[in-house]
Amino acid sequence: MRKLIIFDTTLRDGEQAPGFSMTVEEKVRMAKQLENLGVDVIEAGFAAASKGDFEAVNEVAKEVKDSIVCSLARALHSDIEKAGEALAPTERKRIHTFIATSPIHMEYKLRMTPEQVLEKAVDAVKFARNFTDDVEFSAEDAVRSEREFLYKVLEAVIDAGAKTVNIPDTVGYSIPEEMGQLIADIINNVPNIDKAVISVHCHNDLGLAVANSLAAVKNGAGQVHATINGIGERAGNAALEEVVMAIKVRKDYFKDVYTDINTKEIYKTSRLLCRLTGSFVQPNKAIVGDNAFAHEAGIHQHGLLAKRETYEIMKAEDVGVPSSKIVLGKHSGKHAFKTRLEELGYKNLTDTEIERLFVKFKELADKKKEVFDEDIEALIFDELFKS
Ligand code: KIV
Ligand code: ZN
Repeated sequence: MRKLIIFDTTLRDGEQAPGFSMTVEEKVRMAKQLENLGVDVIEAGFAAASKGDFEAVNEVAKEVKDSIVCSLARALHSDIEKAGEALAPTERKRIHTFIATSPIHMEYKLRMTPEQVLEKAVDAVKFARNFTDDVEFSAEDAVRSEREFLYKVLEAVIDAGAKTVNIPDTVGYSIPEEMGQLIADIINNVPNIDKAVISVHCHNDLGLAVANSLAAVKNGAGQVHATINGIGERAGNAALEEVVMAIKVRKDYFKDVYTDINTKEIYKTSRLLCRLTGSFVQPNKAIVGDNAFAHEAGIHQHGLLAKRETYEIMKAEDVGVPSSKIVLGKHSGKHAFKTRLEELGYKNLTDTEIERLFVKFKELADKKKEVFDEDIEALIFDELFKS
């Protein structure tokens, strides 16, 4: 079996997108839920970017125990030092350092020669090793980089101690066949590649981030960068829920590949992100959209009733979407309320917390005909998680 490492960058690349910024407290809340979801690595931010980002990485490093906590850092000693400092509270830390390797980025953004970039990359990885053995290196804009140069950089950073080499499609330019071939070529042309995990970070400018990530996995990538609901710079990153469910549902295709994601936590995680950022997912969004498991057409309903698999390739319950159709209102009792909380993924609330929420629920139900899941989630958030 081949475990696919899920590197979540909701709190870094995702948060960089307009309208998705989170406070330190919100990031910690989200990080705890990502830990429940079972992600292997949480990129909590870019410690050198701002005081707030430093604090967020630092607080997440204090709170999260089961996932590795990571900070982004440019290939600069000052950035790497900040990342190391912010991550100090945890043993399970990763520094993710990057520099661009494409001709256009080197010439116009960095104003550096390829030789200087190579030197900086190696130096950054060596310096990051002073803070942790777990160093990831990204060759920014790898997809548009000259191949022989990319291989040379990857070989050198692995020699310098990088344990993961990440291949970003920074501008979302690749197509699946090409991405798959790139990974296969890296495996065949970088002599020491067996000493590192190959990772991919795909942007969604052409709507291909998930497809490109999956093509990379099929060709040997061992880690995928992804975000909840696919948020991220411009058109976003590969949606975590889509990558994970594709691997799970199409076991026949991916054969020995598996993830450690607790898929029943997917819906709750998606909803929490919406609540924290005030954003929505489109109704037809795969896996977590309102219509993802809704069947309207008569023919479909008929088929479903006869045999579910006629029109469903996965169960709503598998991703934690509540299946019960009980409508909650002012006549609903505590038992129905508690069941709904559990269906929404809140299974470990104490009796006192449930009691507090139930009082608030009754107050709300008196004012509204029907209490929707969104209302209940708002109550939970206001009562239990807002300080
Ligand atoms: O898109 C990108 O290239 C990035 C890197 C920092 C990994 O976000
Ligand atoms: Zn990115």
